[in-house]
Amino acid sequence: MSQSKLNISTLFAGLLAVSLSLNLSTANAGESKQDHKAGMQLVQKQMALMTPELQQKAKALSPEIKQFLVHVAGKHSRKSETLTLAQVMQEVLADYQAMASAITMDNGEAAAEAARRLADHRLPRGGLLPYMPLNMVNTQDLSVLPAMEEAVEGGSLRLAEAAEKGDMISAAEHLGAVTRGCVACHQHFRGQPGTSNLLRK
Ligand code: HEC
Repeated sequence: MSQSKLNISTLFAGLLAVSLSLNLSTANAGESKQDHKAGMQLVQKQMALMTPELQQKAKALSPEIKQFLVHVAGKHSRKSETLTLAQVMQEVLADYQAMASAITMDNGEAAAEAARRLADHRLPRGGLLPYMPLNMVNTQDLSVLPAMEEAVEGGSLRLAEAAEKGDMISAAEHLGAVTRGCVACHQHFRGQPGTSNLLRK
């Protein structure tokens, strides 16, 4: 199978050339062909790292979610072969804090820099799915992802633009929208961090 003929359905079906008739190989509006191709290649690598159990769940996702995962993989310039999602989240938190303190110090340049770094956060080994609870790797639970991405990454980019113009009030409002994105995603997918099963209920 040649790389250029690879479409999202066959990609998620593993390396078997299963011909599901969904052809999603065209890029989204606003997404460059190079980004789309890079996204397809990265998702293919991520799939190869997953256990067969997770691969099955990933293959069963809707074309829209698959397209979204390819879009995310394509637009991030930084990816790690080794880091976990928890490690990436620590970096995201550091950028978030840098952004917030720069806003309070009226330092638009530093706020914009941290915001752009946050929007282009590193992707963890294997992508997002391996770090989700396995029972949430389904179309319904993952359908919230585009809204989370828009709040956090779209919000950070809007924050960067406002901060660069010196409009720190708008930047602060965008910070609120970004925060809602973090909180909503954690409520949906994560629950309370660091719980112990060695405590009585
Ligand atoms: C796409 C959903 C999603 C979004 C959006 C998101 N997070 Fe997370 N975050 C997670 C998940 C899932 C975990 C748990 C990861 C794990 O433990 O493997 C997590 C964990 C964390 C952790 C704990 C890391 C650790 O050491 O255990 C921090 C801190 C964190 N996120 C910060 C943020 C901040 C700040 C934002 C917003 C700027 C954000 N997150 C946005 C899904 C998300």
